[in-house]
Amino acid sequence: VPVLRRTDVRLDLLDVSPEMIEISKRTLEAYAERTTFICEDALEYLAKAGGYDIVFAAWTLHNFPQDDKKKLLTAIRENLANGGTFILLDKVYPMTGQQELLEHQNARYRKYLPSDVAQAIITHEIEDASDAFRMDQDTPLATFSKVGFASAEILDRIERDVILVAKK
Ligand SMILES: C[S@@+](CC[C@H](N)C(=O)[O-])C[C@H]1O[C@@H](n2cnc3c(N)ncnc32)[C@H](O)[C@@H]1O
Repeated sequence: VPVLRRTDVRLDLLDVSPEMIEISKRTLEAYAERTTFICEDALEYLAKAGGYDIVFAAWTLHNFPQDDKKKLLTAIRENLANGGTFILLDKVYPMTGQQELLEHQNARYRKYLPSDVAQAIITHEIEDASDAFRMDQDTPLATFSKVGFASAEILDRIERDVILVAKK
């Protein structure tokens, strides 16, 4: 919403979940002329898309198993115009203290969510923080370089959440 409100950009908005796409369509109804919704797996879509100035991923990359993260970052770079920018908002743990940050977050859920909801999100958080999915700061930064981004930098961090900007 802030991006659409403050700029005149056109956005292609992708999620694999039909429910998420429906919610987004309702939320962004006022911007229908500048938004295109795509309900598809990100890797499958990027295999045939192309030529974006900016690619933006919000709390989605962490859902991909480690090998697929590398494939996805490669595909994102291929879909960027030269000089294009990839902006990542996601859980990228610092190199130490991961367990404490996870427990701190989960304690917060227990404080303000009904217990069944808290348990569901905590189960999801624990899976996201497992070796199969967790991003530790050095790994994504090394992977950006490996797949050919010219630069990658974490601009801001609050606990385990970051804003990372990579340039092609
Ligand atoms: C934590 S939610 C974030 C949703 C939204 N981007 C936001 O910031 O509010 C993670 C999203 O990733 C989507 N997702 C998971 N695997 C995906 C895939 N393979 N391709 C595209 N989207 C995927 C899920 O459907 C879910 O909506």
